[in-house]
Amino acid sequence: MTKIAMMGEIHNDGWELLKKQNYDVFEIKDFSNENLIKELHKVSAVGLRTAALRKEVLENCPNIKIISRHGVGYDNVDLDYLNENNQALGVTGTSNAVSVAEHVMTMFLYLAKKINKSDNLVRMGNFKKKSSIGNFFELYQKNILILGFGRIGQAVSKRCLGFDANVIVYDPFIDSKLISERGCTKVEFEEGINQADFITVHMPLSNQTKNLINKKQFEKMKDNVIIVNTARGGIINEEDLYWALKNKKIYGAGTDVYETEPPIIDAPLFSLENIIFTPHNAALTLECRKRMAIEMAENIVFYLEDDKKLNKKNIINKEILNL
Ligand SMILES: NC(=O)c1ccc[n+]([C@@H]2O[C@H](COP(=O)([O-])OP(=O)(O)OC[C@H]3O[C@@H](n4cnc5c(N)ncnc54)[C@H](O)[C@@H]3O)[C@@H](O)[C@H]2O)c1
Repeated sequence: MTKIAMMGEIHNDGWELLKKQNYDVFEIKDFSNENLIKELHKVSAVGLRTAALRKEVLENCPNIKIISRHGVGYDNVDLDYLNENNQALGVTGTSNAVSVAEHVMTMFLYLAKKINKSDNLVRMGNFKKKSSIGNFFELYQKNILILGFGRIGQAVSKRCLGFDANVIVYDPFIDSKLISERGCTKVEFEEGINQADFITVHMPLSNQTKNLINKKQFEKMKDNVIIVNTARGGIINEEDLYWALKNKKIYGAGTDVYETEPPIIDAPLFSLENIIFTPHNAALTLECRKRMAIEMAENIVFYLEDDKKLNKKNIINKEILNL
């Protein structure tokens, strides 16, 4: 019987799909290398949430044919090793763009409208002191800079355009024609940083993007900038973000992702009021968890059974992604 391991919990709809194939599906909860080698050396496929699956484990598990991510990022997998050894990687590319895009809009609006302060004011019986909150703002006609115009970046652009914002895009790998067809304008990085009122990050973490937003960039930004990161921690340098927020160099920030996860919450960043945090759950709405579990399972079935009816486009490798 084909054995499939789930590294982490998934929605039942994904389990059901795999069980229909008569696979022996089991969940792994202990992610130590020692236990992973013990459990994974006999499996044909792995469903992978956020735990790391590194070379030290993979080189002891030659039977793995596909690692199917429950999500789209794959910095927790050793892609070079997979390419060298002809093991496939699947991502749930069509599942989570909407969920993450809504998370970004939530953070933009929450910060721009000072919702936390308004809520607190009413709770404290200070309804009539509404002017004490100070100015708050609209998305209407603002410049929204999207860094990375892939699935999520494009989903965000659509929603921002619905607010009649002016969407500018930095993504050197995407043709300006596609960007303008989506109603947005392609810009160079510096140009975008200078013009933006809102910034949202949607590129992968890589050697090129690590610390891309640092003190130098914050210095060039308008003082009213609200910046949101739902991509990966480390693309925005956290120490420099602290500096920018503390010194009111920018207006506010929202982050779902951290340089280390879980983050060290006694770090100075967590003492500030002009930043909001979520626990890397932008893609974890109930609807999205269902979609991801199903798509992750479909990718496994497709790959193992070569079933042409299932969704082929999410099987990726370095060449296709041009990374
Ligand atoms: N917070 C969450 O729960 C969550 C959920 C899903 C995805 N993510 C993150 O969001 C990122 C984006 O996801 P996606 O599905 O849109 O990915 P995607 O691959 O569809 O798009 C990424 C885009 O980034 C662009 N890019 C790559 N390198 C770049 C660079 N140096 N400068 C500018 N642009 C660059 C690519 O050209 C591509 O268009 C993922 O890499 C992942 O890390 C987070």
